Amino acid sequence: GASVEVDVSKLQPGEKVVVEWRGKPVWIMRRTPEQLATLEKVEDQLADPNSERKAYPTPEYAKNRYRSIKPEYLVVVGICTHLGCSPVDKLQPGPQPSLPDDWQGGFLCPCHGSTFDMAGRVFKNKPAPDNLEVPPHRYLSDTVVLIG
Ligand code: FES
Repeated sequence: GASVEVDVSKLQPGEKVVVEWRGKPVWIMRRTPEQLATLEKVEDQLADPNSERKAYPTPEYAKNRYRSIKPEYLVVVGICTHLGCSPVDKLQPGPQPSLPDDWQGGFLCPCHGSTFDMAGRVFKNKPAPDNLEVPPHRYLSDTVVLIG
């Protein structure tokens, strides 16, 4: 079928797994309390902090600061909304090449420099027109998520 079931019970805080859904890489990341705390700090630097843009419409249940059903678990399509490159993890906060000095952790698209926060929200003045896509998903139990 087109849906993918993922058991997230073994994911440790800070870990990410990638599963394939309809030929796309879907990231499932269990965020640490520190990573979740960055989401509020960066909001004034984001292009669409409330996920209101429509290029890749965010499901109602993910239209929140965490962009997720359960704050800990981020579920997003790991494809840049600009021209489809694969953003890379830049989870470590602090200055580093291609990132601002006050970087809090998130993701960087190596193709044209779009940056995304720990909820896949794109920063202002970047070529990517929208946040990373949140695929349709729901929890079948506490630890099993169904994508699609
Ligand atoms: Fe990601 Fe252009 S494809 S910034």
